[in-house]
Amino acid sequence: MNTPRTLVILALACAGLDASAKFLPLAASTATTATTTTSTTTKTTVVVVPPVTPPVTPPVTPPVTPPVTPPPPRKVPAIRKYPPLHFGDNRIKPGVPALFGDPLPNLTIQQMNQFLDGRDGFVLPQTVIGGLGPIFNRSSCVECHSSGGIGGGSVINATRFALNLNGRVDSLEALGGSLLQERTIHPLAQEFVPRSANVVILRNSTPLFGLGLIEAIPDGNIISNRRNYGNDQIHGRVNIVTDVVSGKPMVGRFGWKAQHATLTAFSADAYLNEMGITNKHFRVENAPNGNLKLLESYDSTLDPEDQGIGRPMPEFEMVANFMRLLGAPPAQPAPAGGQSLFSLVGCAQCHTPALRTGSNSQVAALNYKDLWLYSDLLLHNMGTLGDGIFQAGATGSEIRTPPLWGARMSAPYLHDGRAATIDAAIRAHEGEGRIVRDRYLKLNAAQQKLLADFVLSL
Ligand code: HEC
Ligand code: HEC
Repeated sequence: MNTPRTLVILALACAGLDASAKFLPLAASTATTATTTTSTTTKTTVVVVPPVTPPVTPPVTPPVTPPVTPPPPRKVPAIRKYPPLHFGDNRIKPGVPALFGDPLPNLTIQQMNQFLDGRDGFVLPQTVIGGLGPIFNRSSCVECHSSGGIGGGSVINATRFALNLNGRVDSLEALGGSLLQERTIHPLAQEFVPRSANVVILRNSTPLFGLGLIEAIPDGNIISNRRNYGNDQIHGRVNIVTDVVSGKPMVGRFGWKAQHATLTAFSADAYLNEMGITNKHFRVENAPNGNLKLLESYDSTLDPEDQGIGRPMPEFEMVANFMRLLGAPPAQPAPAGGQSLFSLVGCAQCHTPALRTGSNSQVAALNYKDLWLYSDLLLHNMGTLGDGIFQAGATGSEIRTPPLWGARMSAPYLHDGRAATIDAAIRAHEGEGRIVRDRYLKLNAAQQKLLADFVLSL
């Protein structure tokens, strides 16, 4: 990647463009779609890319096909356009309600600029010259993370596959498993689900709002959520993973399998596995279905590809900072009686209403905060609801309790997005969730609706 990027910088410099811009190859390829405002006081480039525009309504045609069930309501991204920052103008104005995608309140100007710079990396599409591919899923993070605002979930799923032979599970790494990369920079490098795979599942894209706060929860506060079964047969297990950044064992908390403990690790992983961009933590490209010859033929960029040339740090770290500073989902007033019904039915045993952050973060806005996230961040054995994928120490039937905050923007639900509504998601609970699920089924319709409305207010 060194040579091509240097060439682009030179080319743009010759063309009289600002060669210090942080996302040169990207900016070059998206100049037509991005509105760029440059702050005079901070020299920060604020790139606001319009969200995926809602489809234009087609002209009315006479109905020929029988009506199909309408899809879940379209999630319309609402994005606040940030003006350039000036001293004293670094917080959300009092009285203006926070939106999904806003930064944490009370950031310093420097942190706010880190948020904006990282958001550029999150939004702007990667290019082949910058290391995209040879196989990848999408060319930017935002393509799968945009519902409700930049950093939300989406209806796009990732596919995982494996081979289960009488309970012995092979992730088929030699054949490019377990994550499928469904796109390629060259048709001959196309990856596909190997014929030998007999477990093929989808993974729902999750929202990233408030993840910096989740990262700031001390391990001990998650470990203490474990239960010793009891009447509702609820246990919960901590997933201790080796953090690729520090090399230390830590409590995993991100992803459906609690497979990562830090945002930097998740970002580095996503750069490689969603976009095919190697970095210092993930140095080896994915070969299409494990075929090294194909990899060699279509991968011409030097590894690691994301070295941060011309930037303050590698792009995956800037993007990790963006996620770290992304505010929690804004809650709405909860319907009366919702919280107590939620606890009474037993949901709160796994969907722990609040957890507290510690004091270790360098970002004051992350320290000693009560998060109303509604998750214990533990793995639970969900029985037949599990996806059969063994990953980062989590078994095929274990899934991490997803936080319920912001649920009104994150439909469809569950690890594979099978549930269009909160009601459908609750009904699908199995394994450790079965007894509470059965209690929910015995509620009357008004109580069930109250519970769903409560979840949608979080
Ligand atoms: C092809 C769609 C896709 C793209 C592109 C993508 N993601 Fe994701 N993202 C997902 C899915 C699916 C999950 C759930 C993964 C899992 O746990 O299996 C996820 C989960 C995450 C999580 C964990 C969230 C949580 O709740 O714990 C983070 C962090 C994340 N993505 C960051 C990124 C970043 C950063 C990028 C860009 C480098 C990116 N993603 C690109 C689909 C995508
Ligand atoms: C045993 C722990 C446990 C209990 C009890 C429990 N849940 Fe869950 N819940 C989970 C896990 C784990 C998942 C993820 C399952 C999956 O994706 O396959 C989940 C998923 C969900 C989801 C989907 C969230 C999303 O973002 O996809 C909703 C909504 C939900 N639960 C609500 C409830 C409600 C309401 C109750 C009480 C009636 C409840 N849960 C009881 C563990 C639990």
